[in-house]
Amino acid sequence: MRKIQAVIFDLDGVIVDTAQFHFIAWKELAAEWNYTLTPEDNEKLKGVSRMDSLNKIAQWANVQTKPEQLLDIAHRKNEIYLRFCNQLTPQHVLPGISTLINTLKANGVFISLGSASKNARFVLDKLGLLDVFDVVVDGNDVSKSKPNPEVFLKAAQRMGVSPEHCVVLEDAPAGIEAALAANMKVIGLGDAIELQKAHLVLENTINLSLVQLNQIKIKGVA
Ligand code: BG6
Ligand code: MG
Repeated sequence: MRKIQAVIFDLDGVIVDTAQFHFIAWKELAAEWNYTLTPEDNEKLKGVSRMDSLNKIAQWANVQTKPEQLLDIAHRKNEIYLRFCNQLTPQHVLPGISTLINTLKANGVFISLGSASKNARFVLDKLGLLDVFDVVVDGNDVSKSKPNPEVFLKAAQRMGVSPEHCVVLEDAPAGIEAALAANMKVIGLGDAIELQKAHLVLENTINLSLVQLNQIKIKGVA
């Protein structure tokens, strides 16, 4: 069996739990449209770019808004979001991630970020992880948002690794679809039913070993 050469990490929900910040910020803006954003709605926004998320909320709220107003709302949402992110510290890196990163680096496996967020570099810096990745591809580098595979393909290309030698770590259905469309292996982190299209689903990366990463061709390997 061919060994993996690179691991591509999603950011929000994989490295750090920022979904709650996105939720609070979107909820505040959706309220201006008299729409109560639910946790279920928020699940559908995971992995989705800022503007695509806003368009979805506008649809749910059944409002039609001019493009310049949408840009203003997106800007205000980001200001709220960044106020929360500003409080992040290295202690907010999710359990298992730092050990996994160290193991991969010690074994010569490339690591890249593959995130839809335009705030990725800011968040990585707050977490003390900005210089750790060989490659960072984020929302500023792509024109098509997940489930389009662009973000992961760009990461693989910049690392000089072919897609079939990459494993993606993702917490969102849109990200799993993007990884599969990129012809990569993908581990879902979170709910086994929601992420069932992944090759393997784990609660977190605490016990994720290199051996296991090399075995994920087989669905359900524990
Ligand atoms: C993804 C999040 O990582 O980034 C989405 O899961 C978010 O919820 C998207 O909308 C874009 O983030 P940002 O920071 O550019 O608004
Ligand atoms: Mg995510």
